[in-house]
Formats: sequence, structure tokens, C-alpha cells
Amino acid sequence: MTNTNYKSALITGATSGIGLETAIRLSESGIHVTATGRRKEKLIELQNKISCDIIEIDVRNQEKIYSELGKLDIDILVNNAGVGKGFAPIFLAEPEDINTTTETNVTSFLHLLRAIVPGMVKRKKGHIINIGSIAGLYPVSSSVYGGSKGAVHMINQNLRVELSGTGVRATEICPGRVNTEFFDVAFSDNPDKKEQMTSGLELLEQQDVADAIMFAINAPWRMNVSMIELTPTEQVPGGSIIKKAK
Ligand SMILES: NC(=O)c1ccc[n+]([C@@H]2O[C@H](COP(=O)([O-])OP(=O)(O)OC[C@H]3O[C@@H](n4cnc5c(N)ncnc54)[C@H](OP(=O)(O)O)[C@@H]3O)[C@@H](O)[C@H]2O)c1
Repeated sequence: MTNTNYKSALITGATSGIGLETAIRLSESGIHVTATGRRKEKLIELQNKISCDIIEIDVRNQEKIYSELGKLDIDILVNNAGVGKGFAPIFLAEPEDINTTTETNVTSFLHLLRAIVPGMVKRKKGHIINIGSIAGLYPVSSSVYGGSKGAVHMINQNLRVELSGTGVRATEICPGRVNTEFFDVAFSDNPDKKEQMTSGLELLEQQDVADAIMFAINAPWRMNVSMIELTPTEQVPGGSIIKKAK
């Protein structure tokens, strides 16, 4: 038997932005939420707002992923924690940013799936929301961040195949620029670059992305929303660059 009578959700990166908004929305719809992140004070703030369990975790701590998160019975995994350290071209990227971005956005992302999905498959019930990006679908001149989100795209595509016959659903959400702390963290050492990335257009809000996530989760069981791409109206990916080599 398969169903979408989901009762529990685990959200990584629930201390701000998309994860925080999704935690609120899921809780409002009667789902028991387990919210995670590194900033304990933010988790406590959330717990004062909604009824939820909180787990302070750095998702790069694999041991803790398996010991603390792997034991939970989770119906909805919002695989959201991510960073944008590494927007510089690869020939300028800081080696440390390469590690932070790939460890957080790809390695930990996979371990979270490894820890949570077996329970879903066993119970024949579950929905995985993988947070990708348009940077994983189109070249945005960021081998590191774009590459990490490109991996998320192919992970979601492969997951759909791997899950066939289990009744478990998987959705990739690919936003363009969203007005969250993401750019503060990504450009903590370069406020001008943050300004450049976030000004001159009306950004998406975290509520817009949470709406898309809730649409996928609330779809009837017969329908798997495989991917949603959403961008600000004023941000359009694509085109080609022609520049004379100097
Ligand atoms: N904002 C955008 O324009 C945009 C566009 C496309 C895709 N995305 C993706 O959307 C997702 C959420 O980003 P956001 O925009 O909501 O940014 P955000 O407000 O900066 O939220 C990022 C979340 O990830 C958590 N996180 C980061 N590193 C972590 C780690 N090592 N361990 C545990 N938690 C960690 C942060 O929590 P702590 O700091 O408390 O650990 C925070 O809750 C990311 O995957 C991002 O790549 C964002």
C-alpha cells in the first residue's frame, strides 16, 4: 500500500530562508517537524514559534547524520542545507571554498539520503524534496557552486529511477535568486559582490519557494512533481557569451 498521508518531516537548514519557511508551512499543515541546523539559538527561536523537535547538527558530520537523523521515521525529507561559497571562477576559487561547498551541497546531501531513504522504502511511503538551483541546470560561471547543484540535479534524476516501484516520491526544486541569508553567507568577505547579485531585480521570497515545495508535497499520490524551476521574472538564464580573447 502507498499513500501520501505524511506525518513527519525532517528539514535540513531550517534556521533561515527556504528551510525555515518550509518548516513553518509543514507544521501549519499538521506535520510533525524535526528542524536542523548549526545555529542553536535560531532553532530555539523556531521552536518558540512552532511545535517542532530540533537537532543541532553540522551536516558535514556524517557520524551524527547516521546516529541522530538515521534513527528517525521520516515521511518528508527536505534536503535543503546548502552554501554558495564558491561563486568565483575555478581559476580564482579558494581551495577551502571548494571543500565547504562540495562537502555541504553534495557529500552530506548524499549521506542524508542514505540515512533517511531506507526507512521510506521500507514503509513504502515518503517524499524527498531536493533543493537544487538554476545554477545546476544552466551555466552561471560558477564551476564550484554550479557543479555542486548540477550534481543535485543528476542525483534527483537517478533517485527517481532508483525509487521506481517503491511508492516514494522525489522532487527537485530549482530556484533562481531568493532573498535569504544565502548571499550574506556566500559573500561574507565581499559585500560589493553581494550587492551586485541581489540588486537590480525583484528577488524571489522564501515564501515563493515554500509554496512550490508545498505544491509538490500536496499533489495527489499518482502525480510525482519531478522538478520545479522558478526564477524572478527579471532573471532569465541562458544566452551565449562572445568575447575576443586578449
Ligand atoms: N537564495 C538563493 O538565491 C538560492 C537559489 C537557489 C538555490 N538555493 C538553495 O537553497 C537552499 C537554502 O538556501 P537559502 O537560500 O534558504 O539560504 P540560507 O538562508 O543561507 O539558508 C541556508 C541553510 O543551510 C544551513 N546550513 C548551511 N551549511 C550547513 C551545515 N554545514 N550544516 C547544517 N546546516 C547548514 C544553514 O543553517 P546554519 O547556518 O544554522 O547551519 C541555513 O539554515 C540551499 O541549498 C541553496 O543552495 C538558494
